[in-house]
Amino acid sequence: MQIVHSIAELRTQVTAWKRAGERVAFVPTMGNLHRGHLQLVARARELAPRTVASIFVNPLQFGPNEDYAGYPRTLDEDSRHLAAAGLDLLFAPSVAEMYPRPLATMTQVTVPELPAVLCGASRLGHFDGVTTVVSKLFNMVQPDLAVFGEKDWQQLVIIRRMAADLDLPVNIVGVPTVREADGLALSSRNGYLSAEQRAIAPTLHRTLQAAAQRLRAGERDYAALETQAQTNLAAAGFQPDYFEIRRPDDLCRPGGAETELRIFAAARLGRARLIDNLPVHLDPR
Ligand code: PAF
Repeated sequence: MQIVHSIAELRTQVTAWKRAGERVAFVPTMGNLHRGHLQLVARARELAPRTVASIFVNPLQFGPNEDYAGYPRTLDEDSRHLAAAGLDLLFAPSVAEMYPRPLATMTQVTVPELPAVLCGASRLGHFDGVTTVVSKLFNMVQPDLAVFGEKDWQQLVIIRRMAADLDLPVNIVGVPTVREADGLALSSRNGYLSAEQRAIAPTLHRTLQAAAQRLRAGERDYAALETQAQTNLAAAGFQPDYFEIRRPDDLCRPGGAETELRIFAAARLGRARLIDNLPVHLDPR
């Protein structure tokens, strides 16, 4: 596996592959890799003969009171995992390589509406940071396809919308969430949990499952389901941020006739802000 830190080196290699007619799949990450990320690489390898991943902790997507400074940076260990997973090229740029001018002076890419709900409602500017860095990475790597985890479902929907609106020639592929045996979705932020908090954490997934079960059983009082779930999470020791039932593709509130829904949850547990979501398929009435 090659590791490059500059855009120029990245372009030289990708151009050579493209000249040889080889398709390129891309996995953008912020590092501190776990099995979920390696699943994204495995999917990328199934879909294209050449695979590129990036590791870049993007300052533009962190709010002033968020964990940018303390976000775990584990490049050596991550590189070993990626090499063992069969990745061809790792792009690990510095902040100066990605943002050569002060952040406030750099052009940004904004998707309207979709970032106003769920995580975007409490993380103002977060998704502008994501769409800006992902656009830049797409322009640098020029991949045929890019792979994203479904744990960040809102991010996946926003990136699909961006790629469609800007006619980007990149196919966006979603990969189902990888979970621990007790249901906890894998996340780099799980490392912030104490042993006691780790024991509580799977309640987030169980609460989503319970709501999904009630929807499948015919319940349609979404507001009551959401309030009950938030109460249960608070009783378990979380500080719930949101628990919401929405449509999967446009993230709008359901009208009642939908057969495909998605339930989204975010809650704080100590230092960690955990997110998760579940699809719900309903039989037409
Ligand atoms: O999902 C992430 O890790 C990040 O938001 C991404 C897509 C790598 C952009 O920084």
